[in-house]
Amino acid sequence: MSKKVIITQQLPGERLIELAGLCDIEVLNRPQALADACARDELATCQGLICLLTDAIDRPLLDAMPNLEFVSSVSVGVDHIDVQALTRRHIPVGHTPGVLVDTTADAAFALLLAAARRVAEGDRFIRAGNWHPDNRWSPEFFLGKDFSGATLGIIGLGAIGQAVARRAAGFDMRVISWTPSGREVAGVDNVSLEELLLRSDFVSVHLALTSATRNLLDAGKIATMKPGAVLVNTARGGIVNERALAQALDSGHIYAAGLDVFEREPVAMDNPLLGHPRVVVVPHIGSATTLTRAKMVDIAVRNALAALQGLPMPHCVNPQVYSP
Ligand code: DGY
Repeated sequence: MSKKVIITQQLPGERLIELAGLCDIEVLNRPQALADACARDELATCQGLICLLTDAIDRPLLDAMPNLEFVSSVSVGVDHIDVQALTRRHIPVGHTPGVLVDTTADAAFALLLAAARRVAEGDRFIRAGNWHPDNRWSPEFFLGKDFSGATLGIIGLGAIGQAVARRAAGFDMRVISWTPSGREVAGVDNVSLEELLLRSDFVSVHLALTSATRNLLDAGKIATMKPGAVLVNTARGGIVNERALAQALDSGHIYAAGLDVFEREPVAMDNPLLGHPRVVVVPHIGSATTLTRAKMVDIAVRNALAALQGLPMPHCVNPQVYSP
């Protein structure tokens, strides 16, 4: 009998045809579909799950899926998945590293520049009809923050952090980094987190969300940032304390912020950060280009194909499940 794979949302790409040749596919295609489907029998009979970062793969869900043999997420981050629980059940978890590195680094740079040079604020200013002949241009009109030649602090020097460092070299920036791995990269000075926050004109966050990084930039840490600094987060919302960031922006201690990710997504409209003119926000689109998303889907399906064929997934976050 053919195995059954649930895909939580319709995915683009040719590879799905290959998958359909190996198993029965059911596409749920509704937001919150897994949570709804949790009550239904269809999960109980399913061997494979291809999910998105918006799907919580937690213990209650796993309990509803006693026949589950693999999970493949169309994401590099796996903080939506209880990897420990899956590992205990010897179930491999696939993800999509590598292919979104440049795209996410580009997005971080877009936010760094937009926040420094007040791009979103200027856009809103014109559209609101506020650009009049009497404020056409003046030496102090819409001043932003100097970017080229400034000090950039990169928190997390994995593949995306390194790609951000390469871009910064083109802007003659001094690049310093704090990274839990202690990784050394040419042209980047490793410093403590405290020194990074003290010295950086711009800070860009590139860590996975784990119990160790949750709330890493809390009120205390934000208070030690260089006055007038800009903070950009394209990693995960839970790493930066949003309330503390909003307060630091209100007090003027932090000049501006660029945010692609939030503690809660979609972000609540009463989130104080949305009310701040110097905060540039985008809806978790760091990897959102056609080519990158196609590559992510391709890897997620390849992970699933391998699992269906009884082979190790090419990109597995818990490869220990393959040890005897
Ligand atoms: C991921 O894959 O984890 C990213 O957040 C998607 O942009």
